Amino acid sequence: SIDKIPRAPPDRILGLTEKFNEDRNKKKVNLTVGIYKDAWGQVTTFPSVAKAQRLIDADLVLNTDLSYLPITGCPDYSEHVLNFLFKESCPLSGPKLLKEGRVSFTQTLSGTGALAVASKLLALWVSQTVWLPQPSWSNHRNIFRSNGFTNVKEYPYYKDGRITVEEWLDHLRSAVDKNSKTRDCILLHACCHNPTGLDPTKEQWKQILDTIHELGMIPIIDMAYQGLESGNPPKDAYLLRLCLDESLYKSWPHGLFVCQSFAKNMGLYGERVGSLSVVTPPFQPETKDNVDSQLKQIVRSIYSSPPGYGSRVATMVLSKSFLKMQWYKDVEFMVSRLSQVRKEMHELLEWPSLIDFDRQHGMFYYTGLNPKQINALRNDYSVYMTMDGRISLSGINDCNIEYVCKALKSVTKT
Ligand code: LMR
Repeated sequence: SIDKIPRAPPDRILGLTEKFNEDRNKKKVNLTVGIYKDAWGQVTTFPSVAKAQRLIDADLVLNTDLSYLPITGCPDYSEHVLNFLFKESCPLSGPKLLKEGRVSFTQTLSGTGALAVASKLLALWVSQTVWLPQPSWSNHRNIFRSNGFTNVKEYPYYKDGRITVEEWLDHLRSAVDKNSKTRDCILLHACCHNPTGLDPTKEQWKQILDTIHELGMIPIIDMAYQGLESGNPPKDAYLLRLCLDESLYKSWPHGLFVCQSFAKNMGLYGERVGSLSVVTPPFQPETKDNVDSQLKQIVRSIYSSPPGYGSRVATMVLSKSFLKMQWYKDVEFMVSRLSQVRKEMHELLEWPSLIDFDRQHGMFYYTGLNPKQINALRNDYSVYMTMDGRISLSGINDCNIEYVCKALKSVTKT
């Protein structure tokens, strides 16, 4: 009965903003959620997005189109996102896949929605076991568990400031049975690993993919930060390019899942704009059609069809070359500010280099602080960061950088 429902814990990221909002300290600083703020602490609309919005506003037909989108989203959006992901980001291997009709696609409610739909599909028909990096985005476990995964396991991704690829692969080799009838899924962060900001090198990725391919695992690529590493969105799709290189991996016989989002790289957070692409094996047109049909059924049963406005904005940006160029400039600008803040913090903190700070990139600064220190930071200084030791860099600006670094130094003083 209803009184047997237990209390769920607050969300490990968004729950902190609720606490932050209640904090009366005038010096409070919110470094929790991964939202890009400019040098004045504002969440602003990207210039490319603002121009796209004006064009949409000026177009009366689109402006009055409040009708439902199809279940798997707007066809224009699908076309342009597929082109962006599989032509522009993967020019050598992607076009062939599209031509062969091997990519099943649906518009989703951002990256979270893509992961939710993917996990529901997989758990229903393919696998209920997934391997997540340890550490990972705190919502990953939640999403897989809520959508039917009974086994959420972890591989050792990071230890003492470094990525531990050897340990990670040894762990998988000893734990995953390649002859088993069931397949295990593995979640890979495409770039800007959340929370550590540390990604394997291209050579390490090759080694990783060789192993997971050999073990018959199903890759689920979470590409929420495409562009936030190099400042150039297509360039950051190197993991996808590698996966799709047919001279290395003829195919992924159990499918390859790409969960992608425009929340961060277009600043469309609240509009919930993303996609799920399922790359199906060659010469199996029926598999692709069956996946299409299941995606429709899943989406229809949860939210019927996606919202329209944000995807119209993204479509406009992707489809007009002058907006696309502006978008790339916007991303580059955001990344240069993030790198600048990272550098300044690094200099001010003067921490011994226990962590591979120089190799960190993206939206976050991974500090390695322990929960006691993080609580002290919040209680004594009203500086809020997530309990995994992650700082959302863009919350830092000229007005608060000294205060934040002083507070960080004071709580880490031994
Ligand atoms: C984050 O990690 O802060 C972002 O991905 C936002 C979120 O939804 O958690």
